[in-house]
Amino acid sequence: MSRIVVAIDGHSGCGKSSTAKAVAAELGYAYIDTGAMYRCVTLYFLEHTIDLFDADQVSKALAEIEISFRYNDELKRNETYLNGKCVEDEIRKMYVSEKVSDVSVIKAVREDMVAQQRKMGREKGVVMDGRDIGTVVFPDAELKVFMTADVEVRAERRRKELLEKGEDADLSRIAENFRSRDHIDSTRAESPLRKAEDAFELDTSEMDFQAQVNRVLEEAEKRIAG
Ligand code: DC
Repeated sequence: MSRIVVAIDGHSGCGKSSTAKAVAAELGYAYIDTGAMYRCVTLYFLEHTIDLFDADQVSKALAEIEISFRYNDELKRNETYLNGKCVEDEIRKMYVSEKVSDVSVIKAVREDMVAQQRKMGREKGVVMDGRDIGTVVFPDAELKVFMTADVEVRAERRRKELLEKGEDADLSRIAENFRSRDHIDSTRAESPLRKAEDAFELDTSEMDFQAQVNRVLEEAEKRIAG
């Protein structure tokens, strides 16, 4: 049985991460949340008031940033660490979501993240989710999935998630953030979000979570069997 790379791209908030996580667990693969990496950079830039238009400040800051993932056995979840500190909850907050697309358009940021992601996936046996995984990071990935869902459905789901974490965000603010990120992510010059020609599209607007996961697993198993 061969180990493969599963690349999951798509719009903000359509369930990429939870699907990718479940698929990775089923296959016994590592899961890499590349959105979390861009969120870490954004958090660091905000905390250190980095001027996004100052190339020198940006490259110095990037050299200071170390991102890693660890599984928390007690909480049964993957956690993102920025310079040794768990930032899993902080990077999901709205103030980070509202800045992350501006940070993700910066060429130096993308180059740095893509290089790290390629290293993390070079042994294969990974499920990676993001915006440019099937097009830029791993254009030869054995399985590419492009996920999408209606913006209203995505906003409802995200509101529920935020509420569970104690953040009461307005539905229209969430939907607006998704629309704006979709727009910036799809129209930026550097690695815009687009469906790779050989990706299969999964519209999750009317699908339940398990059906989503099973559909991706079905495709993955075909590739693994060769
Ligand atoms: O997957 P997410 O919503 O947590 O990602 C946050 C932002 O990071 C998203 O709006 C765009 C950016 N991103 C990116 O540009 N490229 C990736 N591979 C992953 C995320």
